Amino acid sequence: MTRKKTGQITLHRENTVFTAGYCFFRAELPELLAGVPLLHPEERAYFETLKFDRRKTSYLLGRMAAKHAVAELMGEADLRSIWIDTGVFRFPVVKYAGGQNIQVSISHCGTLGVALAFSEMHPLGVDLEHIDEGRLPVLATQITDEEKQILAALGLPETVGFTLLWTIKEGVSKTLRTGLTMDFKILTVKSMKWAGNTIETAYRASSQYKAFSCYDKDHVLSFILPRKTKVDLGGFWEAFGEMG
Ligand SMILES: CC(C)(COP(=O)(O)OP(=O)(O)OC[C@H]1O[C@@H](n2cnc3c(N)ncnc32)[C@H](O)[C@@H]1OP(=O)(O)O)[C@@H](O)C(=O)NCCC(=O)NCCS
Repeated sequence: MTRKKTGQITLHRENTVFTAGYCFFRAELPELLAGVPLLHPEERAYFETLKFDRRKTSYLLGRMAAKHAVAELMGEADLRSIWIDTGVFRFPVVKYAGGQNIQVSISHCGTLGVALAFSEMHPLGVDLEHIDEGRLPVLATQITDEEKQILAALGLPETVGFTLLWTIKEGVSKTLRTGLTMDFKILTVKSMKWAGNTIETAYRASSQYKAFSCYDKDHVLSFILPRKTKVDLGGFWEAFGEMG
């Protein structure tokens, strides 16, 4: 059964307030296929070229989550009018007649998709990963000794900690719009601490940004935002918990 949770997030700057929309979207491929008519004609043309069920699923999860996130932010009822194109580094580009300078960040994992929609004035990023012990050796290759010490102090199980750090790096690489094609040094973290039920991270080189992360038994989710922004992500984490 398709499940969806949408909401808004208020982002406080010193003299301004921004709003972002979010959507969590859970569905299997047969249910997602029922939503194909909601794709913009250009999205549909791309979708028709896809051969593998896994990519069909991830594409539809990401596009449905992103369209609903934009709709939540802009109050748009017609999802078909929102075209989410792909830029040169594979980042999503919102082409939408009803609003200007809206961006989205997308992540998908299995049958769960998540997206944020936000003003270009205030960049955000999101990354969702499955907690999978089998990936530990690969994740470990991208973690510095200093980061291992920082993680150890948090007291997380190793698989959770490594996956969490991965989402923190992948998430900021999305905010920077390069993806993981860049030198990993730019993504290293300086500090991590518990902040209530979430973990707050400061980056070393990408110091304009910070991350808040949360996890359940299957997934880790990181939300990346400008360092000086104040935000209450309570509703966002609750929605994540309900989609697990
Ligand atoms: C961006 C990247 C970090 C995403 O990681 P992932 O774990 O595979 O996937 P996620 O589900 O978390 O995120 C995927 C979404 O990230 C977004 N994305 C992809 N590249 C991005 C970039 N450079 N900047 C911001 N967002 C990006 C897309 O919306 C994508 O979903 P979509 O393809 O359905 O539109 C990773 O794919 C990457 O580093 N890509 C760059 C290298 C690359 O493009 N290689 C393929 C060459 S064909």
